[in-house]
Formats: sequence, structure tokens, C-alpha cells
Amino acid sequence: MSLFETIAVALWAMLPAYVPNNAAVLAGGGRPIDGGRTWGDRRLLGDGKTWRGTAVGVAAGAALAVALSALAPAASAAVGVDFPTFPAAVAVALPAGAMAGDIAASFLKRRTGRERGAAFPGLDQLDFVVFSLLFAFVAAPAWFGAVFTLPVLAVVVVATPLLHVGTNAVAYALGLKNEPW
Ligand code: CTP
Ligand code: MG
Repeated sequence: MSLFETIAVALWAMLPAYVPNNAAVLAGGGRPIDGGRTWGDRRLLGDGKTWRGTAVGVAAGAALAVALSALAPAASAAVGVDFPTFPAAVAVALPAGAMAGDIAASFLKRRTGRERGAAFPGLDQLDFVVFSLLFAFVAAPAWFGAVFTLPVLAVVVVATPLLHVGTNAVAYALGLKNEPW
């Protein structure tokens, strides 16, 4: 696979995991997942992790995966890259993993004394990658092995932090997010 193909496949395969965080920002609000509960003198997760944001995030990522699957043949022919389709289990696993990673990161932030919205460099950019890949691997190991080859994984690990920083800066500039990270 050429470098262009590797990058194209990596971004395509990760799109259903990239969209949930942004959809959650747009949809967030309402009841927090932790219901206001605390552990010690800190919130379990905080007001930044809501049921609505999580549900809309997973739904948006899954809908995108279904749409990309339908588009894969035409896109592959047009671009000359073999874009993968997403089995149903993966269409849910990628966005669910992304949201789970984001929630796990908030849990860790609260345990380390970081208030809602505080930055945690590294964790902020990669939490959702690790969990979405893990969920996809568990959901469909053979599909995972065929799509996420080592070069594709390498591109994902390098490109994701850049994309994450970029989209969050845009969301901040547009007033959609309270912090630029
Ligand atoms: N959001 C949500 N549910 C989620 C994730 C995000 O409702 N599962 C919404 C919240 O409105 C949140 C916003 O998206 O404030 C931004 O997400 P994020 O940066 O992950 O949350 P923070 O508010 O920064 O909180 P934390 O410090 O816990 O990450
Ligand atoms: Mg944040």
C-alpha cells in the first residue's frame, strides 16, 4: 500500500470514532452520567459527561459508519483506494469505544484533581483512539486485523492527535467548546 493509501484508509476507518466527541459537544447537556455522585471529595466523572451527549455521539458515529459502508464501493473506485466497509458490530464498537475512552479519561482527570475542562495532554488526544481500537478488535478480530495493519495503526497514532487538536481549536473558535483542547 502506498503512503497515500495508508493515510486514506486510516482516516476512513477511524471516522466513526472521530465524530462522536464532536457530536457530543454539540448535543451535550442534561443529566450527567454520574448523577452528581462523588468519590472522595471529587465528582466521579463530572458534568461534562452526559447521557445525551454519549447517546448522540455513539448514534452519530454508527450512522456515519453505515453511510461510509454504503459509499465504500463508489469512493474506492473514484479515489483508487480500497476503502473498507464496517460490519454492524464494528459500526457500534468504534463510536462506543471512543465515548468510553473519553469517559475513562474524565474519570482519571477527576481522580488526579483536575476540574472539568482541565487539559490532560496526551490523554485528551489519545484516550478515545485506544478504546475505539480495543472495542473494534473485540467486536471483529478478523476485520480488525485486515483493516488496521501496522502501517495503518501508525498513521492513526500520529494523525489523530493532530486532527483532535485541529477540530477542537475550530470548535473553540466557533464558540461550541469552552476550551481549545
Ligand atoms: N459531552 C457530553 N457527554 C460526553 C462527552 C462530552 O455531554 N460523553 C459534552 C459536554 O457538554 C462537555 C463537552 O461535550 O462539556 C466537551 O466534552 P469534553 O471536552 O470531553 O468535556 P469537558 O467538559 O472538558 O469535561 P472533562 O474535563 O471531564 O473532559
Ligand atoms: Mg474537555
